[in-house]
Amino acid sequence: MDKEALRQFKESGYLVLTDFVSREACRGLIDRAEHIAECYVADGPLSFFTTDEARRSTDERFLASARDIALFFEDEAVIDGQLTMPPSAACNKIGHALHDLDPAFSAFSRTPDLERVARDVGLTDPLLLQSMFIFKNPRVGGRVDWHQDATFLYTDPVTVTGFWFALEDADRENGCLWVSPGGHAQGVRRRFLKGPTGDTWFVPGETPQLDISAPVPLEVPAGTLVVFDGCLPHFSAANRSSKRRCAYTLHLIERSAHYPADNWLQASEERPFRGFR
Ligand code: FE2
Repeated sequence: MDKEALRQFKESGYLVLTDFVSREACRGLIDRAEHIAECYVADGPLSFFTTDEARRSTDERFLASARDIALFFEDEAVIDGQLTMPPSAACNKIGHALHDLDPAFSAFSRTPDLERVARDVGLTDPLLLQSMFIFKNPRVGGRVDWHQDATFLYTDPVTVTGFWFALEDADRENGCLWVSPGGHAQGVRRRFLKGPTGDTWFVPGETPQLDISAPVPLEVPAGTLVVFDGCLPHFSAANRSSKRRCAYTLHLIERSAHYPADNWLQASEERPFRGFR
């Protein structure tokens, strides 16, 4: 990465790297995710994902998915507890340990090119913490409200860095990512905590409201990698279009940073957090 790109990353809190991965690699990852979704067999009530806090229910399945592979569905794809469409069309996302448990996702996530970018943006000994395949399906793909990833994956000092891969073309119509350039400078505004019995809550900082100014839509073609600072405010709108907008996200932290025991996502003895190798 050249000095100018790094300067831009430091100044705006994000970086857009087009043609980072091939369209074939994107297609391969989508095929794998569709396969995982279509193999889904309900073994109880469906799990949903929403960042709408009025409706948020952080259930046991969400917490258990930290070091597993679990599917979360769109509210609007379910009636009376039953999917109204095939699982891959109803799915919001698959998370959160695809990068460790699925060979295709591990290979996509652990490349020399990605390791180089991680080091270029300042992670000297990166750990791959969390992965999500996001479907953003046509018409039912839900909105993700403005947030900072450091709220959910806090380290001291803050080191979480997001790697967002567009697997399909993303634009305003199908719910592309929006960012608030420079917004990372406000630091993390609040934390999401998990207690020992699995209860979760937000702890506001002194000024919990996010400052959002001049939001920018990141309309990017498939194959683009967006790297963003864990304190950069970002959101994506609902997808009401007829065009899907699949993306894959990875969150990395610095191994030496303190990782609190009250973060929702915790390693286990059998499944520790791992780096690139
Ligand atoms: Fe995020």
